[in-house]
Amino acid sequence: NIEVLSDKPALIERSREIILARLHQAIESRGKFTIALSGGSTPKPLYEALGKESLPWSKVHIFWGDERYVPASDRDSNQLMARQAWLDRIEIPAANIHPMSTNAENPLQDAQQQEQELHSFFQTQPGEFPAFDLILLGMGDDGHTASLFPHTEALTVCDRLITVGNKDGQPRITFTVPLINQARCVLFVVAGANKRPALKEVFAPEADEMNYPSRLIQPQGELLWLLDRSAAAELSLD
Ligand code: 6PG
Repeated sequence: NIEVLSDKPALIERSREIILARLHQAIESRGKFTIALSGGSTPKPLYEALGKESLPWSKVHIFWGDERYVPASDRDSNQLMARQAWLDRIEIPAANIHPMSTNAENPLQDAQQQEQELHSFFQTQPGEFPAFDLILLGMGDDGHTASLFPHTEALTVCDRLITVGNKDGQPRITFTVPLINQARCVLFVVAGANKRPALKEVFAPEADEMNYPSRLIQPQGELLWLLDRSAAAELSLD
């Protein structure tokens, strides 16, 4: 379902609330919380807020839903942004942080390595899709999510957990649609007027999902869209 918040600070606060509720629920029922992070700019203040929390971080496992194909020290790295805003400020075992490797010079090799890491962590077999407790997603103004860009091959990959995305010829490592759809909870956090046209298409009764990949996200579990009023302005939410 969809929640519209008055402004970006309220959106960030609501996202934090939902993540903490899911974190406590997962730790209570399964002894750990597995979360996959989105990149880009929207979640930065959310990560800064989470960096101020004192929580049972040793029971939390951090993954990324996608990564730019750059070194972990690169300013474009999603991993670097989350570490600087959040993970470097809390007491969490290094082994609980599972970044996507981007150093094989060959994105496909790194994608396969991340796939193996997920299978061994979740004790799943090839062909099985593990269920993350929460996958945090953003949406680009073209309707992409993670690194699943419009009209790219990555959108059609259905037999892998991880694949190589492509943004204007630049490789990305990304979760696949079936992996995202296996999650117990998918939380989209979208802010800003530049997202209005894509949101209209994502929520339209009919639209080309290859053109607006966020439409492909229909998880087994809960799907929650958190929007600020600016992004939601053209949606007719009755
Ligand atoms: C990334 C993200 C990407 C992001 C959208 C929205 O690697 O860039 O995972 O999917 O969520 O591009 O980005 P903004 O939040 O910066 O608008």
